[in-house]
Amino acid sequence: MNILVTGGTGYIGSHTVVELLNRGEQVVIVDNLSNSYDNVIDRIESICGRHPDFVKADVRDFKKMEAVFAQYDFDAVIHFAGSKAVGESVAKPLLYYRNNLESTWVLVELMKKYNVPSIIFSSSATVYGETDLVPIKEDTEYRCTNPYGRTKMINELFLQDIVAAHPGISAICLRYFNPIGAHASGLIGEDPQGIPNNLMPYITQVAIGKLKMLSVFGNDYPTHDGTGVRDYIHVVDLAKGHLAAVDYVRQNQASGFLAVNLGTGRGYSVLDLVHTFSRVSGKDIPYQLTERRPGDIATCYADPSKAKELFCWETKLDLQKMCEDSWRWQSKNPTGYKR
Ligand code: NAD
Ligand code: UD1
Repeated sequence: MNILVTGGTGYIGSHTVVELLNRGEQVVIVDNLSNSYDNVIDRIESICGRHPDFVKADVRDFKKMEAVFAQYDFDAVIHFAGSKAVGESVAKPLLYYRNNLESTWVLVELMKKYNVPSIIFSSSATVYGETDLVPIKEDTEYRCTNPYGRTKMINELFLQDIVAAHPGISAICLRYFNPIGAHASGLIGEDPQGIPNNLMPYITQVAIGKLKMLSVFGNDYPTHDGTGVRDYIHVVDLAKGHLAAVDYVRQNQASGFLAVNLGTGRGYSVLDLVHTFSRVSGKDIPYQLTERRPGDIATCYADPSKAKELFCWETKLDLQKMCEDSWRWQSKNPTGYKR
């Protein structure tokens, strides 16, 4: 059996492909390389000693995708492909709704036609939006605050409707908290385009001297040091969460629809991250305290007990390891994947 991984050359997808190959799965990646590079495949091969099949295609291209489904016998789809920048989604909602909704629609059409029984979808803690109830459980209501978050919510609702009407299909929506870190080899990691929006890649680029100074967005939140608190999860732990979800759907045929948090259950502040990173890298991270970023909330961390109960999965890697691996990736690859 093969597993289709859309967006498999991207940040989370590439780490998941490594874990899948390492345990002997047959993997087919479809990616249009809109936010990644094809040399990721060579890096994956260097780590695993084998490479996944790779098809360069847009998941929304029904014809090309049908050829892929006809060629391979898939038993699961892991759907990472999508656009993910919150600010860009506010400026270009049409792009986000088209890319993030049409791709899932094409996949589900083809899953029905080719009898592929399960899809594991990349959702996000962003679907909870402005909630003040922590730790966040999966039954917390949707309170998305931007078009990106709404595309995740609509995908979840779409998959619920599909599963209700087609009992042969099951769907697991994995709601990721804040993925950081990189593979311990330093060969694959996060390579954002332009100036990073997210905290960890910003810090690593300050550390290599590409950016001058970190702006800490707000120090008047009701948290232990006034800065925002998040549930940072090592990308390798996150990748392993996908393998646990694959095992679950294989063992529980027609398991229906599930939404499951993938997080550590622990919150760290911006300054906790800055200080831990400085300690492990030996690099000073100059920062200035600035205004809050519009739309940010004070505190967000998961209740990860559902994933533990259903998938027997929990995180193993701590904040120090996340910082060490992020730094190894950034210092070995100052220009990311660009040759
Ligand atoms: P990424 O941008 O690194 O990876 C996404 C990949 O999908 C890229 O390689 C891109 O080229 C590809 N892609 C985009 N649209 C495509 C299309 N139409 N057809 C084929 N390929 C396409 O992002 P990531 O950080 O690895 O995120 C993966 C998924 O997880 C996304 O759906 C994202 O919304 C979700 N997610 C990410 C985070 C995060 O912090 N990174 C948090 C929560 C959820
Ligand atoms: C952001 C996205 C969210 C997405 C998540 C994971 C927004 C509003 N939300 O969440 O949809 O699921 O990334 O990719 O963009 N910070 C700074 N300085 C910086 C950058 C960040 O102080 O330069 C702070 C933020 O205020 C926040 C924390 O660091 O308190 C984490 O920020 P970030 O990495 O952007 O993640 P989220 O805001 O949690």
